[in-house]
Amino acid sequence: MSGPVLEVVGVTVRHGGLVALNDVDLSVEPATIAGLIGPNGAGKTTFIDTLSGFTRPRTGRISFDGERVEELAPHDRARRGLVRTFQSLELFDDLTVRENLLVAEATPTLRATVTDLFRRKDQRSPRAEELLDDLGLAGWADRLPTELSNGQRHLVALARAVVARPKLLLLDEPAAGLDPAETAELGEILQRLPELGTSVLLVDHDMALVMGVCHVVNVLDFGRVIATGTPAQVRSDPQVVAAYLGSEGRAS
Ligand SMILES: Nc1ncnc2c1ncn2[C@@H]1O[C@H](COP(=O)(O)OP(=O)(O)O)[C@@H](O)[C@H]1O
Ligand SMILES: [Mg+2]
Repeated sequence: MSGPVLEVVGVTVRHGGLVALNDVDLSVEPATIAGLIGPNGAGKTTFIDTLSGFTRPRTGRISFDGERVEELAPHDRARRGLVRTFQSLELFDDLTVRENLLVAEATPTLRATVTDLFRRKDQRSPRAEELLDDLGLAGWADRLPTELSNGQRHLVALARAVVARPKLLLLDEPAAGLDPAETAELGEILQRLPELGTSVLLVDHDMALVMGVCHVVNVLDFGRVIATGTPAQVRSDPQVVAAYLGSEGRAS
């Protein structure tokens, strides 16, 4: 379909008396990596929670793939291809990397059965094998998550989120806790997702990552979008420099 994969118009969210998101408009185009940056407390996580259905907006519209979703439960949004990852990673430690992808590929109702089936070894699916290859993770296919580094587990969790072919993947600080080499690898993987049919909304404080992989960057400050543009446009926007990029320590 044409048109944005995600279109948010006039979304306002309150936490008690606090306005966490104030009349936010934001779109993500197909085959695009969009960034969302801003100081701590700006409302970035609230925005991800609102998109994925864990927080209800007070006002506003959220259209995903051309349909309104703000009344849908999180699992219904995920089933339509609006998917997020969690910091807990949610990997099964007693299944191999390949098996973790296979479980994620199965529909939720089939998952329990499928998990049992994996006790019979050497299950494969073309999609999971292709994704492991495309993302450069094939070498870990037979390993258990517990045998991998923290950074490698993050990459497997990302692959796991992508195996069901989401149209939009929401990532809240995926580089947190990764070392520079792991962050670079994360960046390379993210850049392959649009051609695999997945757009990305990336929240992170690592400016090298965000500016390096995003086609468009949105800046939040006190719940408002204060800038939207290419990385170069946003980096040189005086309001953005004042609110976020100016003080080295905050956006390092
Ligand atoms: N569950 C909550 N209850 C009350 N206030 C919250 C809650 N979650 C976040 N906030 C507040 O909302 C604002 C936005 O928070 P958050 O979305 O976590 O920002 P960010 O992810 O950009 O750091 C902050 O002032 C934060 O303290
Ligand atoms: Mg946050």
